[in-house]
Amino acid sequence: MAVKMLPSLIAVVVCFARIAFAIPHHELEDIFAQAKTAFADANYPLAVKHFRTLKELLPDWKDNYINLASAELQTGNVNAMLQVYKEAVSKFSSDGPIHSRYCELLAKTGDMADVERPEDGIQACERAVSLEPRLKSNYLYSAETLKLAGRVNQALVVYAKADALFPEDAEILRPYCAYIADIMDAFFNHPTARLPPNGYEICAKVAEMLPEDSDILQKLAVALKVGMQHEAAIAVYELWLQKFGDRNLKDTIHIKATLAKTLINGGKRDRADELAKECLAAERSRSHLNAAALVRAIGWPYDRLGWELQVEETDATINSIKIRNEKMCPSGKWRIALNYTEEAELHPDRLSITFLNSDTAHQTYGRTDDPIFIGPLVPKYPHLFLEKAVYLVLFKKDVFLTGLNGVVHADCTVYAGSHHANIGLQTFPMTDDTPIVEIHDRAVSIMLHQMQNYYHWVAEALPKLLLLKEHVLDKPEYKDVKVIVPSKGVAKTLEDTLGMEEFAFLKDRLITFANPTTTRYHFTKGLFVVDWVHARDDVHGTLAESQWAVYWPPKHVHSIVRPFFHAALRKRGTFPDVTAASTNDQTIVYVQRKGGVRSFANEDQVCAYLSERFGNRLLIHTGGEGLLRQVAVFAKARVVVGNHGAGLTNFMFTQPGAVLVTIPKDPMVDFCFANMVAGMGERHFVVSEIPGAHYVGSYPALSAKHMELLGNVIENAYEMSSVGEVGEHDEL
Ligand SMILES: *[C@@H]1O[C@H](CO)[C@@H](O)[C@H](O)[C@H]1NC(C)=O
Repeated sequence: MAVKMLPSLIAVVVCFARIAFAIPHHELEDIFAQAKTAFADANYPLAVKHFRTLKELLPDWKDNYINLASAELQTGNVNAMLQVYKEAVSKFSSDGPIHSRYCELLAKTGDMADVERPEDGIQACERAVSLEPRLKSNYLYSAETLKLAGRVNQALVVYAKADALFPEDAEILRPYCAYIADIMDAFFNHPTARLPPNGYEICAKVAEMLPEDSDILQKLAVALKVGMQHEAAIAVYELWLQKFGDRNLKDTIHIKATLAKTLINGGKRDRADELAKECLAAERSRSHLNAAALVRAIGWPYDRLGWELQVEETDATINSIKIRNEKMCPSGKWRIALNYTEEAELHPDRLSITFLNSDTAHQTYGRTDDPIFIGPLVPKYPHLFLEKAVYLVLFKKDVFLTGLNGVVHADCTVYAGSHHANIGLQTFPMTDDTPIVEIHDRAVSIMLHQMQNYYHWVAEALPKLLLLKEHVLDKPEYKDVKVIVPSKGVAKTLEDTLGMEEFAFLKDRLITFANPTTTRYHFTKGLFVVDWVHARDDVHGTLAESQWAVYWPPKHVHSIVRPFFHAALRKRGTFPDVTAASTNDQTIVYVQRKGGVRSFANEDQVCAYLSERFGNRLLIHTGGEGLLRQVAVFAKARVVVGNHGAGLTNFMFTQPGAVLVTIPKDPMVDFCFANMVAGMGERHFVVSEIPGAHYVGSYPALSAKHMELLGNVIENAYEMSSVGEVGEHDEL
């Protein structure tokens, strides 16, 4: 094994004869000499033996513990080494150096050890700090040990404390910044991490102190990128390329691929595309394909090349899965499954399917005269959609779930279903060494892409849960079936929703899908999922081969979600009566995205204008209220207005006859709300006259002329809306 350090023996010149009394002095000298010789000859097992003898004879001789531990480490027995220190710190409980040394070794070798009680080590580190609070290394090793034990917040606290005690110290700031950047980059695995608000400032400071440190400059860029400071992140990556770009081809290409992704988020699509292509030319690796596909997805609407790159990335990923576990895939050769019907016919022993919408699947919805464009036609804007087929799928036994998106896999097969090439395998653990959590309950999974995002929760995961409730969870024969949900903190709206009394029946039936990128869950007794798949022959061309359409739910969803929430309001007596004459108040809901991406640069002025023009009819929605309060706001709306963003998902809660007014992105790539409006059978205005924002950018300030235009469109939409006149009978 690779031992990270080679500690030498402490050169002890101790007159141990004074301590010992039962054994003649020269005998002790002899044993010690033999131990030292054995150590010098690299006969570590023998050295261990002698040091152990000495420990028995002279239990109060401190330095002997250190020597014994060093010898244990040399035999490769990290656990035995740590055990010796554990004994020593309990014996010499007010000895600073021995605590410090133990903590250091824990930090350096803890990942190789089989640490049963990490608290012991953490306590030793805490004690080291309190015994020698001025010793900088105590903080560094404490933080390291906490990191190894997965104590993210405690580690952050130790770094912050060290930073306060030793200000402007690169030795502290360097690992502190690196840790912040790593946590930010893998936030889904640490949803409850309390990161300092000035994370990238810490990195910026140390990057300035260590101008030749390429790693730290990269961490700074990562912190900025994840913190959505795209412009600054781009500048730092460009600086990195300038300073270090000619050193190591591999690192440079990696930075270029990351820069390409940052550039597309910064709205610089041409340079992003150019860099992504350069990376592909160097190597058509998974990560380069991923960057190139992302650039095309965000930069070019319905891009054929983007889809092809996505398919290539997925194929490359499936081909590089190395799992050969007996239970999963003894042959080690993996494939992707896109069609549950075919799979169930081929392998009735593995899975079975129930077709949930056979009466409506493959029917067309939408209308050719919707949306109404105010301004130029938006290229590729879809109008008609083919209803997806909705299935309840039962994987009968020994099925596995892992990765951020909860990818189902078993029998050498990755089940992509509705997500096709966009299944999201970037965080799928590809090897056999991933720990497996055995689940012996039958379960349903609602895990999917970006569950923490409001749109993906309300439009995708929640409807799946409602269908699973109806077809599985509510049935007496499935009383034992559990539900897989993300860790606490990942999806606030999920917690709010599950907090509704409508879901009280799930109490004691939840299983947390924790650390999904580093853990594999094995369902020994089977797993249910609901999934929807678009027709192979997509006559309208709006769903197939689109990196975005995989996230658009079928029309069927709207016949479930809307009534579910309206019933919840009725039950609580908060369903708005929109037929009464007094209900013009707050029937125009403007969805504000203040400060967020895709908000107007002059959001306050826009709101002031709309307030003045529409008076009491207007409600500015900021999203601070609880979920059901929010549902009630939208259930009262005749017109919902907003820039493209998750807040528009709330349109799903409106009553029949409501109208959506939206300002598109530029380029407009994700038409999820077009699908939503069509699926609900409603109408929408797309105000393309107003300059748009790119995918994660800001909308430019709205001019006075455009404010007036927006106001006029809202007025038209209001005229067109028929809330309270139609459709309610469907739900009553
Ligand atoms: C799945 O396969 C079946 C049988 O070959 C076929 O009829 C069906 O159209 C396919 N479904 C999709 C969504 O492609």
